[in-house]
Amino acid sequence: MSEHAGSDRTARPFLYVVVCAAGVADGVDGLIDAARERGWEVGVVATPVAMGGFFDVAAVEDRTGRPVRSAWRTPDDPRPFPAPDAVVVAPATFNTINKWAAGLADTLAVATLCEASGLGVPLAVLPCVADALASHPAYRESLARLWGMGVRFGDRYTGDPGEDGRRPEFGWERALDLVERR
Ligand SMILES: Cc1cc2nc3c(=O)[nH]c(=O)nc-3n(C[C@H](O)[C@H](O)[C@H](O)COP(=O)(O)O)c2cc1C
Repeated sequence: MSEHAGSDRTARPFLYVVVCAAGVADGVDGLIDAARERGWEVGVVATPVAMGGFFDVAAVEDRTGRPVRSAWRTPDDPRPFPAPDAVVVAPATFNTINKWAAGLADTLAVATLCEASGLGVPLAVLPCVADALASHPAYRESLARLWGMGVRFGDRYTGDPGEDGRRPEFGWERALDLVERR
């Protein structure tokens, strides 16, 4: 059964933000603020690993006014989010990208992505994957498969320091630019 509530519509379009367990995840509050400023209502779905200290769950719940979802609800629980008008995955890990492409829906986050692919809503991914992992053939094949499904990708963020020795900004708003693109 679908995990979202088709009848629970909000006045503003509803954006799912799927958060994976990458080091930059602690900046997701900036994406939520930017999305709300652009007129989106936001619900966050996080992977179980991401829930273990990668970002401030309470702060995100405070910002969105909704629980962060990570586990499946029980059949008697109400569906906490309406259906999405768009979905972004930021940051997207090597693991979640590969599982999504393979259809391995073993977390609510990946199951949400697998289902969203069939809803016809814009899907955007900001991969956060180091060069060594990105050279794995499974990763390249996953990107090609998701690309073929119409998923929109931002440039891969490696976390490598720039010439000034500092890590570049993750560029969270790229995710919004991608889903808002016609
Ligand atoms: C501090 C820390 C930072 C990490 N950063 C990344 C990252 O940027 N990209 C990535 O693919 N994996 C990263 N990992 C590894 C993932 O957390 C790990 O593969 C995990 O299984 C991903 O689970 P998820 O895709 O369900 O969130 C990191 C792990 C740790 C402990």
